[in-house]
Amino acid sequence: MPKLLVRDLAQVVSAAGKGAPLRGRELAEIAVTEDAYVLCEDGRVTAVGRMADLRRLDGEVEEIDGRGRAAVAGLVDCHTHACFAGDRAAEFELRSGGATYEELHAAEGGILSTVRATREAGEDGLAEALARHRGWMLSAGTTTFEAKSGYGLDRDTELRSLHAIRDAGGAPTFLGAHALPPEFDDADGYVDWLLAEVAPEAARVAETADVFLERGAFDAAQAGRYLRRCAELGLASRLHGDQFTEAGAIPLAVELRARSVDHLEATREDGIRMLAASDVVGVLLPASTLFLGRPMPPARALVDAGAAVALATDFNPGSAFCESLPLVCSLAATQLKLSPAEALAACTVNAAYVLGRADRIGRIAPGFVADLALLDAPDWRYVAYHLGGPVVAATIVAGEIVWRA
Ligand code: NIG
Ligand code: FE
Repeated sequence: MPKLLVRDLAQVVSAAGKGAPLRGRELAEIAVTEDAYVLCEDGRVTAVGRMADLRRLDGEVEEIDGRGRAAVAGLVDCHTHACFAGDRAAEFELRSGGATYEELHAAEGGILSTVRATREAGEDGLAEALARHRGWMLSAGTTTFEAKSGYGLDRDTELRSLHAIRDAGGAPTFLGAHALPPEFDDADGYVDWLLAEVAPEAARVAETADVFLERGAFDAAQAGRYLRRCAELGLASRLHGDQFTEAGAIPLAVELRARSVDHLEATREDGIRMLAASDVVGVLLPASTLFLGRPMPPARALVDAGAAVALATDFNPGSAFCESLPLVCSLAATQLKLSPAEALAACTVNAAYVLGRADRIGRIAPGFVADLALLDAPDWRYVAYHLGGPVVAATIVAGEIVWRA
């Protein structure tokens, strides 16, 4: 593999704070190197610096012209539901006319309509749909993605989803406890079955387990039972919590030392304080909040209280048909009142931490995987500033250009 030199970059930008997750003032500290280069070898970054300090390189070197571009670490989407078939365009239209997300879910639409489409897609259909979604993510600068099962809710489709995610290069999360499937009429019975019949096999493929803790889905006792057993099988815990109501997600996440609790639109002061005093990351998903027309999560209060936060898309066909982390950064800056630097750290370093990968992705630094997003702008702040615009000029994964505008 030849060396890759990205040269004459207007800026190379990476989080300045050490370690992960970043919180408090460190979340907002960014290191900007102007008139810079990034050198990659065997898929890793080997050197970063100013062009003036670039020494002569021996051997075969592939060069990329970075003039007029800022380079940021490849974006890390730590919360998606990208492994689905079909769409919910008709439901979107109904919601625009006033139907609510929870009403549609209760009427066996919502998540369950995607379950029907995902079960019917078969192995090839599902892999094709995921590859298409993966392509969209790459074009938005996402170099690492997590994706959840949870649109199968039967043994075969749950396992097929996890394999498809792993084969597509994603970090698979077992979200068997996403909704009650039509084959069951009580959540306890379904959790029993899931843990006995699916979890042991799922744990061979997945890295983490997740549960939708919410009225109309699973309660705290069921969520705790599910996550504890999954942890015994080797899966780190995550939770969908406080999306519509506070139903005990933060206390449970803290008790289980979960990697994250995600959504938090309904979180109030006690929850903020408890999360801030813990090592659990709060994953904020403002695209889904916007898409559902709901009040935004208390992001500024969380950060100011010292909580570790990450940002993700929640990409899925129902509550967040949006694969763009740059758009999420725009929402973070305009709606959540995070600075562009906080937003960038939240979807690089901190998102990498949620995925257990902060030692190798999320920064542009020697030894880190050469995952880069080259922005179509000389200023890194365009990642949040260019609202819905074509922000990314090229996406580099492990030292190879995998997407170009
Ligand atoms: O994170 N809230 C639960 N799950 C997803 C939505 C899934 C869907 O609507 O298909 C979420 O918003
Ligand atoms: Fe989600």
